[in-house]
Amino acid sequence: MSIRLIVKEPDEVLHKVAKEVTKITPNVQKLLDDMADTMYDAEGVGLAAPQVGILKRLIVIDTGDDHGLIKMINPEIIAKEGEQFGPEGCLSIPGYNGDVRRAETVTVKGLDREGKEITITGSGLLARAFQHEIDHLNGVLFTDLAERVYEIGAEVPNRRIRRS
Ligand code: CO
Repeated sequence: MSIRLIVKEPDEVLHKVAKEVTKITPNVQKLLDDMADTMYDAEGVGLAAPQVGILKRLIVIDTGDDHGLIKMINPEIIAKEGEQFGPEGCLSIPGYNGDVRRAETVTVKGLDREGKEITITGSGLLARAFQHEIDHLNGVLFTDLAERVYEIGAEVPNRRIRRS
């Protein structure tokens, strides 16, 4: 296990499209494990491989719900429903949050760490995290979508923001 350096804006790697993983090697699995360690160390709820400087379609998420730690390879949103609007942050954009409109529920298909196909449906924060992390794989940041971006401290008091 090791903690990797989180790439910050304005690094150009954050704006590139990540490549599909065609073979699950020990390196890919180690990267997923390191991404999880890095996410927990930074107290985030999600992390995508471009955030550690690697343009592969890999994400990790743990929003603290019953799904636990999710490690996903080549994740793809196959269904969206409803709408949520609220604050969002990013470990690659420290100090800022933004209000982003997202689907309330998403169904995501991909491969797990062992290469088995998995499908997960999540709502609320989990759905937001999936959309945020999959955007990272396409070079899209929350600041590209937010209706308002503000420095942390300028938001509505007592509103807890989770970063991913
Ligand atoms: Co992010």
